[in-house]
Amino acid sequence: MIDVPDTYDAIGYISDGNGFPLTSFARPVPQPKDNELLVRVLSSSLNPLEFKLADLNFFGNKPPVALGFDVAGVVIAKGRNVTDFAIGDSVVGMADCDGHGGWATGGQGGYAVVRSYLAAKKPEAVSFQDAGVLPICFLAAYLGLKPHVEGGETIYIPGGAGGVGHLAVQMAARTLGAGLVVSSASTDHNRQIASDCGAYAVIDYKSPDASDQLVALTKGEGFDIVFDATYSEKSFEQTAHLVRPGGRWVVLGVGPGRTTRTSVTESRVDQILASKGAMNINANVLSFFGEGKLIDGDAQFFLSTGMEASMRWHSEGVVRPLIAKAVNASVDGINSGLQSLREASGGYGKIAVALSSSESSY
Ligand SMILES: NC(=O)c1ccc[n+]([C@@H]2O[C@H](COP(=O)([O-])OP(=O)(O)OC[C@H]3O[C@@H](n4cnc5c(N)ncnc54)[C@H](OP(=O)(O)O)[C@@H]3O)[C@@H](O)[C@H]2O)c1
Repeated sequence: MIDVPDTYDAIGYISDGNGFPLTSFARPVPQPKDNELLVRVLSSSLNPLEFKLADLNFFGNKPPVALGFDVAGVVIAKGRNVTDFAIGDSVVGMADCDGHGGWATGGQGGYAVVRSYLAAKKPEAVSFQDAGVLPICFLAAYLGLKPHVEGGETIYIPGGAGGVGHLAVQMAARTLGAGLVVSSASTDHNRQIASDCGAYAVIDYKSPDASDQLVALTKGEGFDIVFDATYSEKSFEQTAHLVRPGGRWVVLGVGPGRTTRTSVTESRVDQILASKGAMNINANVLSFFGEGKLIDGDAQFFLSTGMEASMRWHSEGVVRPLIAKAVNASVDGINSGLQSLREASGGYGKIAVALSSSESSY
């Protein structure tokens, strides 16, 4: 018999904008609707999305809002029509980021509802900690690369030690058959990480001749694909120049000129790509969320396949997360972790959140 309380102390924001630093508040344990799982969350991770949502509340959800959208834990209830998962299954998934996540204080675990197509069973060999850092960053890399990379192509992935970047480099180099995977980072340590992830060459993107070095690696032709998950307007312009004529430039999320989310800034990316006849591809995990968004069967299948791939490729040892550190289930731990993520450059891999002191405590 699973003991589920009526309420628990969630971690998130309580004001509509300027909600960082986060706080804790009592929240009823949610109930799963049709096609949804209720997961007792044992492990999670920090993503820039969480401080951005606390700052801007851009999904317009009525606070208080619980954060923590990366979820690894155990299914404790399920809605109607869920046939692929059973109560007691260990799972990984992404909670609805236009709703609530699964962070909680106290070390007893949190609670999050996950749509069944955004979840996958967690094999025993994959730890809850590893599983819990994967969903958002893995799906972002999968969405940005899997439909676009063709065998033998040259690909440039700036920021190859970042949360998304280190998974993207492994994916491109080890699962998608890219011909040449090149990356970048700002420190020796991070360049070593990108190299260990499978990049053939890793340059210092701050070097004055970074672009020349990169173009030389393609014998002057430019890259077939650039996957830029840096959210840096400076990087966007630099990497748009590196796409070969007729190539593809893939960006995550809101895209050039919109990274502040509060105003549109000037960006030359469209112009640069148009001058090369290159395609600008927007890959946005957040586009699957928001009031009234209808996710068709193809998209559900893609996301479900992606979540399954995150577990399969981990088990096979081809795409594994690097965990820089873990913070515990406290408001202070999560706030200081998010603050270090906000200060961005020079960090690496993922910061895990340990929500339960015992992985089997459900
Ligand atoms: N909408 C979506 O689908 C979606 C999904 C996931 C993430 N995101 C967004 O994607 C961004 C990255 O997320 P993350 O978790 O990977 O963050 P992260 O771990 O902080 O990584 C950021 C990376 O960008 C690199 N970088 C910064 N400026 C650069 C530049 N000028 N040139 C090359 N590389 C540069 C950094 O390299 P160094 O540390 O070596 O300097 C770092 O590796 C965030 O803004 C996040 O919100 C969007």
